[in-house]
Amino acid sequence: MSDHSTAKRRIVVLISGSGSNLQSFIDGCADGSVNGDVVAVISNKAGVKGLERAAAAAIPNITLDHNSFASRTEFDAALADVIDSFSPDLIVLAGFMRILTPQFVNRFLGRLINIHPSLLPKYPGLHTHQRAIDAGDSEAGATVHFVTAELDGGPAIVQARVELLKNDSAETLASRVLNYEHQIYPLAAEWFCQGRLELRDGHVILDNELLPESGVCVEIAERAE
Ligand code: GAR
Repeated sequence: MSDHSTAKRRIVVLISGSGSNLQSFIDGCADGSVNGDVVAVISNKAGVKGLERAAAAAIPNITLDHNSFASRTEFDAALADVIDSFSPDLIVLAGFMRILTPQFVNRFLGRLINIHPSLLPKYPGLHTHQRAIDAGDSEAGATVHFVTAELDGGPAIVQARVELLKNDSAETLASRVLNYEHQIYPLAAEWFCQGRLELRDGHVILDNELLPESGVCVEIAERAE
């Protein structure tokens, strides 16, 4: 009889680019810090580095170019069918730069998570780091959240806060924040894989406790990469 508490969860990762967050999942699944397997990687862009990372780890990788579809709805429907063909427990958006239709989001509600490079609800959308610098913020960061139909608006699971330094450019800040992203994203996934994390009536529950609006705030240090 299979043991559901220890069975590895099936994870599908969606990307559009470099896939450094994808890599943190590949590594976390390989070293056992995430009780899962990345069973497929899907990109809406051909030739991106994330696809190479998947191939190097012998993970099925698929390009589904949104430009070959007549509408967002048709692309999302095709994407959802490809995802379902891998029977995932968890779908991870890792730098997947597409706005998703409510139909798509609702099909996977509760098992669809995203990472966004800001302290949501601050700075949904693009250019988050430049916006934090322009606003004179003293800190920036990243948020892992459940995806809902509202863009970058779903309830937060975990946040990492990063000091914004006087001389930071969008690039230096992005690279520091990414370092933290690579730690908090697999951590949130592991909570999910262990059955400790769920979306219940629009709220995030971890270990049967309702999380605060900003999710768990973890104390972590920058890690050598
Ligand atoms: C990451 O910084 C991620 O937070 C961001 O794109 C980057 C992808 O990097 N995502 C968004 O902006 C989504 N709104 P990666 O491809 O190296 O993982």
